[in-house]
Amino acid sequence: MKISVIGTGYLGVTHAAALSSLGFDVVGIDIDSEKVSSLKKGIVPFFEPGLQELVEEELQGGRLQFTNDFSNAKDCEIHFICVGTPQRKDSLAADLQFVDSAIEMIGPVAKTNSLIVGKSTVPVGTAERLAKRLSELNPSVELAWNPEFLREGFAIEDTLRPNRLVVGVTSDQAESKLRKVYESLIAAGIPWIRADLPTSELVKVAANSFLATKISFINAMAEICEVAGGDVTVLAKAIGYDPRIGSKFLQAGIGFGGGCLPKDIRAFMARSEELGAKQSLEFLREIDSINQRARQRVIDLVRLEIGSDLKGKRIAILGAAFKPDSDDVRDSPALDIAEQIAAAGAVVTVHDPKALGNAKRRSPQLTFVDNVETCVKDASCILHLTEWKEYRDLDPVAILKRVKEPVIIDGRNALDRELWEKSGWRFRGLGRTTR
Ligand code: UGA
Repeated sequence: MKISVIGTGYLGVTHAAALSSLGFDVVGIDIDSEKVSSLKKGIVPFFEPGLQELVEEELQGGRLQFTNDFSNAKDCEIHFICVGTPQRKDSLAADLQFVDSAIEMIGPVAKTNSLIVGKSTVPVGTAERLAKRLSELNPSVELAWNPEFLREGFAIEDTLRPNRLVVGVTSDQAESKLRKVYESLIAAGIPWIRADLPTSELVKVAANSFLATKISFINAMAEICEVAGGDVTVLAKAIGYDPRIGSKFLQAGIGFGGGCLPKDIRAFMARSEELGAKQSLEFLREIDSINQRARQRVIDLVRLEIGSDLKGKRIAILGAAFKPDSDDVRDSPALDIAEQIAAAGAVVTVHDPKALGNAKRRSPQLTFVDNVETCVKDASCILHLTEWKEYRDLDPVAILKRVKEPVIIDGRNALDRELWEKSGWRFRGLGRTTR
C-alpha cells in the first residue's frame, strides 16, 4: 500500500518513517522546500531521539521519500494530514490555515476512492467541515480522523507502540483501510477505538486538557505547600500511590509548555465558547493561570534568595527546551523565565544540551553557552529549569568552585536535594519548605 504523509514536522516525519518501517511505501510531502531538501539527504531538521537514524535507514531501504510536489501522492491509497495547528496570533483559537490548505492541495490529486486521514489536533467540528469541502473537491474521497498522542522525546515509541488507536470514521470501508495500516499494532494488542468524527477530535483535546489539569493541580498544591510549610514532592508521591490518581504527571515545578498542551487548552476553551458551552471549560482558564503563575513564582524565589534588585546579578539558567530530550522551545517555561529575569536587569547565561539553536533564534537578547562550566561561572544563583539527565548527573562539589554564591533553585524538583545540600548549597525547590 502506498501512503502519503502531508506535513513534515515532528509528527509527520515520525509517522512517515514509522509507516515505512512497517513496510509501506511512504511519501512525505511539505511545501517548505528547505525542509524537504534536508530530509531527502536524511537530515532531520529537529531533535527527536532515534528519528535521524530511523529516517536514514528508511531512505536507504527505498520505501521512504520526501517531496514538495503533491502530484507524487496520486497513487496513494491513504493520505495522512500531519500539519501544525498553532494558536492564532489574535485569539485563543487554533489557526487552521495549514489544515485547510492541505485539503485544498491533496483533495484534487487524490485518486478515486482513496482516504484522507487527519492526524493534526483540531477544534471539534473541523473534520465535518473539511469532509464537506472534500465532497466538492473530489466526491469519491472520504475523510477520517485519527488523532495522535505521541510525546516529543518518545515519538517513535509512541507511534509504534501507542497506548491506544482512535479512529473517527463515517463508513466501514474507512475503518477497514485504517485497520490495514495498523494491522501489526492491532495484532500486538493495542486497543482499537472506533468513533465518529467529533468524538475522535474531542478525545485528543480532552486527553491533553486532563494532562494539563493534572500538572496544574500539583502546581496549585505546590503553592499551598509553600504557604503552609509542606513539601509537594512528598505529597505527590503519597497521593500517587492511589491507583485512581496515579503518580505520572504529578511533577510540580515551572509547569507545562511546548507546542501542544498550552495551545490545545486555549483552543478548546475558544471552541467551547463558539459552541455556546463556555462554562463547561471555564476551569481550563484557571489551569492556564496556575501554569503561568508557576513561572512567576520561580522568579519571586530568585528575588527572595539573592535580593529583589536583580540588576547586574549573574544568573545561570540550566535548560531552554520545554522539556528534556527535545530541542523545542515553543512556549518553553524555561526560556520565558530566562527572558523575564534578563528583562529585570540580570546578566543571564543559558545552557541547554540540544535547544541552543532554537533558543538563540527565539531570544537573541540572551547569552547562550554550550557548556555548564561556563554557564555557571561567577553566578549568584543557578536555576535548573529543564530536567535533562546531564543536569541530574552534575557534581555539586565541582560546580561550587565556579559560582559566586552557592544558591540553586530547582524549578523541576528533579535534582537530589540531599546531595546538593550536603555539598554546601542553599537548595530551593518550588513547593518545598526551606530547611
Ligand atoms: C503532549 C502529550 O503528552 C501527548 O500525549 C500529545 O500527543 C502531545 O502533547 C501533542 O498534543 O502532540 P508533549 O507536548 O510532547 O506531549 O509533552 P509532555 O510530555 O506532555 O509535557 C508537556 C509539558 O508538561 C512539558 O513542559 C513538561 O515539562 C511539563 N510537565 C509534564 C510537568 O510540568 N510536570 C509533569 O508532571 C509532566
